[in-house]
Amino acid sequence: MAEEKDYSKYFNKPSLKDAKSRKRREVNIEDFAAVKEMAGIGQGKHYHVKTYGCQMNEHDSEAIAGILEQLGYATTDDEKLADIIILNTCAIRENAENRVFGELGRLKPLKVNNPDLILGVCGCMSQEESVVEKLLKKYQHVDLIFGTHNIHRLPEYVHEALISKERVVEVWSGEGDIVENMPRRRANAVKGWVNIMYGCDEFCTYCIVPYTRGKERSRLPEDVINEVRELAAAGYKEVTLLGQNVNAYGKDFQDRTYTFGNLLDDLNEIDIPRIRFTTSHPHDFDELMIATLAKRGNLMEYVHLPVQSGNNAILKKMNRRYTRESYLQLVRDLRSAIPDVAITTDIIVGFPGETEEQFLDTMSLAEEVGYDGAYTFIYSPREGTPAAKMADDVTDLEKKDRLYRLNALINADANTGNMRFQDQVVEVLVEGPSKNDDAVMSGYTRHQKLVNFKADAAVIGQIVDVRITEAKTWHLYGELVSD
Ligand code: SAH
Ligand code: SF4
Ligand code: F3S
Repeated sequence: MAEEKDYSKYFNKPSLKDAKSRKRREVNIEDFAAVKEMAGIGQGKHYHVKTYGCQMNEHDSEAIAGILEQLGYATTDDEKLADIIILNTCAIRENAENRVFGELGRLKPLKVNNPDLILGVCGCMSQEESVVEKLLKKYQHVDLIFGTHNIHRLPEYVHEALISKERVVEVWSGEGDIVENMPRRRANAVKGWVNIMYGCDEFCTYCIVPYTRGKERSRLPEDVINEVRELAAAGYKEVTLLGQNVNAYGKDFQDRTYTFGNLLDDLNEIDIPRIRFTTSHPHDFDELMIATLAKRGNLMEYVHLPVQSGNNAILKKMNRRYTRESYLQLVRDLRSAIPDVAITTDIIVGFPGETEEQFLDTMSLAEEVGYDGAYTFIYSPREGTPAAKMADDVTDLEKKDRLYRLNALINADANTGNMRFQDQVVEVLVEGPSKNDDAVMSGYTRHQKLVNFKADAAVIGQIVDVRITEAKTWHLYGELVSD
């Protein structure tokens, strides 16, 4: 077997043991510093970034693209023209990982045709010890591996890969400092992502994210507020605040008491039409957050509130730290403050040991809430997580059957959730032509409902009034209300 040691100056693999540690350490804020010697190393060349996973990854890819453009690279959709291809990966479930391995196999011939092509892998999979070992042994055509904590050092890695022609592997197991002012190439001109915090300390027993994203670190409120103001000034109409658990925002501040509720309240003052956030953990959704959301204004009437299961024993085994009863109470509190609020969720079926009765508790909870929509998943064991050591005794057939039954219920509720907008006039932020018809425009309401309606392309990027004429399971259909 080939010796894995490396001659390049960067060769740093991740360790699961280090990723688990939550040492007390001061988190500093540093500014992104462009390295002068590297300016122009991508002049005349092209890059292609492919993103998997959640909004956090989408937003990280905007920084990767921004950094590569600062180095002189131009974007291309055609991978054959690319001089550097980066896969920003997701580790949340096994099938997410398999897709990336498949893609790496598919991309291999490009390396044969263009030996100078740099093929890079980053994101959550790179933070996994076993994945990096596999890439090193079986995917020798991958030139560059870096993690979620050191994206800001990409210029050095590209430079090193170009001059050394050796594999560059640099993954930090522990999180670093918060890096402000990274260049960004935002994918959308009216809807923007804004990180408010990084990492996760929840350690839900099934989840890999606390190991791939490190401990919780909040950005300073002034940095978040300034970024939202800048986006508003640049014409952005909607901002999504990002964090694995936004409710934990500010808990790590040593020098002040400032929570997510305070942040929402401050952002509520900014002149931008829409603000939403993802994701909120039901455990610490507090009264201030509910009261602030009830002020509405730019705060959208939409909450994504992952429940995962409706059974208390399973919730406990998942380490979710709330009960079915407290979750349902939170839903009632939200609805009494904002009666029309749209609520969506995430649910896992087939968690280790889940019995049919326990699954039926999830069904009855979903029925009681009447979700506007849900992302539903079959449990996937993740190496290194506590749940992976529990007996995974639900058969594949049962898991699929539960998912099928749950989806049928969720879809019926989504339809009911959409019906309540029938004949109403809603505000739609128009994104562009619909998938199937250029004469039909698509956009989202303040309740995060997809609306299709006939209109001219001139309305793209605007917020317009639309009267709903037909409510379907996946979208609403309407007609433009002219003033
Ligand atoms: N931080 C967010 C979710 C991140 S992952 C939150 O806590 O809500 C998105 C969703 O993926 C989770 O809500 C969960 O439903 C699902 N998920 C996470 N790990 C999983 C696993 N091992 N198997 C199946 N689904 C999983
Ligand atoms: Fe994973 Fe739980 Fe953290 Fe969400 S809150 S990222 S599900 S550990
Ligand atoms: Fe996937 Fe990482 Fe997001 S594991 S869901 S890309 S935080």
